[in-house]
Amino acid sequence: MQNPQLSPEQLPQHIAIIMDGNGRWAKAQGKPRVFGHKNGVAAVRKTISASAKLGIKAITLFAFSSENWRRPEEEVGVLMELFITVLTTEVKKLHKNNLRLRVIGDTARFNDRLRSKIAQAEALTENNTGMVVNIAANYGGKWDITEATKALAAKVAAGELQASEITEELITQHLTMSDLPEVDLMIRTSGECRISNFMLWQMAYAELYFTPIYWPEFDENSLIEAVTWFVNRERRFGCTGEQIKALMESE
Ligand code: IPE
Ligand code: IPE
Ligand code: MG
Repeated sequence: MQNPQLSPEQLPQHIAIIMDGNGRWAKAQGKPRVFGHKNGVAAVRKTISASAKLGIKAITLFAFSSENWRRPEEEVGVLMELFITVLTTEVKKLHKNNLRLRVIGDTARFNDRLRSKIAQAEALTENNTGMVVNIAANYGGKWDITEATKALAAKVAAGELQASEITEELITQHLTMSDLPEVDLMIRTSGECRISNFMLWQMAYAELYFTPIYWPEFDENSLIEAVTWFVNRERRFGCTGEQIKALMESE
């Protein structure tokens, strides 16, 4: 039975995803970890397309954390190359679909080639009006808050602001993604139940959804399941995956 009450306003506005489990997925098949990262790209594609079809306003994908530099150099190198390749091949598709791409994180540590790809991709899509796709790369929630703190401290030092005038609102304005709605649904794959220094401030009230499946297996149906769970938690009524699918098709 269709529930007539379900409307797009009940969906999450901003979904954040910790794409975890690539390495374990590959290992389970006797393949090297990087095989998992390569296969994770298809899951990214499916997730972006399903979210856009649903009419989600923003999606933030955790691709590389500030702590991931500690991984073996070779794996980091493959991840960087993959990032460049994906930026080159996928950005045109995003642009064609009117999506806006942004990279959030401390990109200063990336090589010139990657930094220039990022700049090109952001410039190409900046005037698009559809869903915002944030890729969190060399991102850390603590880094984000530290940068905002530095910016505010600089204003205080310059005499433009009194320390007593600092409010939660002002801190929010100095964080990345301050122009987007707060994250209302956070998804983490692979069964780990941690935030791993992802957005801390922006997820203060997010519903946290943990699924045991590994990232390369995540697809449109997995997203529908997570969104169905969210709608039922938030609105406390028995919505079904079919209703979410119907909304997707009506877009
Ligand atoms: C997530 O998969 C991708 C990145 C962190 C880049 P992992 O590489 O963390 O895979 P597991 O957790 O080791 O299985
Ligand atoms: C978090 O996954 C970061 C990304 C998905 C990019 P990790 O697999 O690196 O997290 P930990 O280290 O297990 O917490
Ligand atoms: Mg992991």
